[in-house]
Amino acid sequence: MKTIVLTGASSGVGLDLLRALGGANTIINLSRRTPPEDAVSQAPGFIHIATDLADSSSVAAAIASVVERTPQGIDGLINCAAVQFTPQFTSDDFDSASIATEIAINLTSPAQLIHGLLVSLGQKPESFILNVNSGLGLVPKRESAIYCATKAGLDNLSRGLRAQLQGTGLQVGQAFLPLVDTPMTTGRGNGKLSSREVARQIIKGIERGVDDNDIGKAKLLRIVNRLSPSIASRIMQKAES
Ligand SMILES: NC(=O)c1ccc[n+]([C@@H]2O[C@H](COP(=O)([O-])OP(=O)(O)OC[C@H]3O[C@@H](n4cnc5c(N)ncnc54)[C@H](OP(=O)(O)O)[C@@H]3O)[C@@H](O)[C@H]2O)c1
Repeated sequence: MKTIVLTGASSGVGLDLLRALGGANTIINLSRRTPPEDAVSQAPGFIHIATDLADSSSVAAAIASVVERTPQGIDGLINCAAVQFTPQFTSDDFDSASIATEIAINLTSPAQLIHGLLVSLGQKPESFILNVNSGLGLVPKRESAIYCATKAGLDNLSRGLRAQLQGTGLQVGQAFLPLVDTPMTTGRGNGKLSSREVARQIIKGIERGVDDNDIGKAKLLRIVNRLSPSIASRIMQKAES
């Protein structure tokens, strides 16, 4: 049984990670809402720490609470929570205050959690950090420029951290997701993968120690982008994502 800190288990991919991992592991969830009761009841060791990831003092309090509850250390940290705001810079309803919020949730809070939980992760001979990323971190689309930038930033953060931790027992992985059927994408796109299938593939990647786990169409996107960034860019501008 592992002890895993997971952000965003109240919805979407994070909720399906809780459903898949909660039966056999202790999951400590950081989100504002509590996950649905049916998922919590299937996860005997479940702990919810109400946290606003947009607020660094709330994140600091959550870190202190995790450290206090886990004197034996933790086996994993999965940074899954994120928001995607869709207005463009040129939109009349673009709210500049939302820039700070989106960056805080998607990029600052994962960095703060990694830093704050590094000692706890290091208490185990083998442990992992898994950052949930997006194809949009590889190639941006026209909408959601801040979201795309936070995911590109998360990619660089993950790769830099991986280099720093090389030779330790702490593995740093990412999962690059395609369009997934969750509340984040309600009313958008088609051909979405289910969050259950995505959670299954994320867990498979962690178990196999995959550095960058490209899921579904994210695999093809990375290859096309490597061969021709301009074609990849055109594909993303056309895709309804
Ligand atoms: N859906 C897709 O197509 C897609 C594609 C590529 C990558 N991804 C990535 O997959 C991950 C999961 O996304 P999803 O689609 O499952 O989204 P989702 O269903 O909207 O869930 C987002 C989660 O983030 C949490 N969250 C949002 N704001 C928060 C805050 N201020 N403080 C604490 N928690 C907060 C929410 O919890 P509370 O509201 O309870 O706080 C919720 O649990 C994200 O990293 C996303 O970027 C998704």
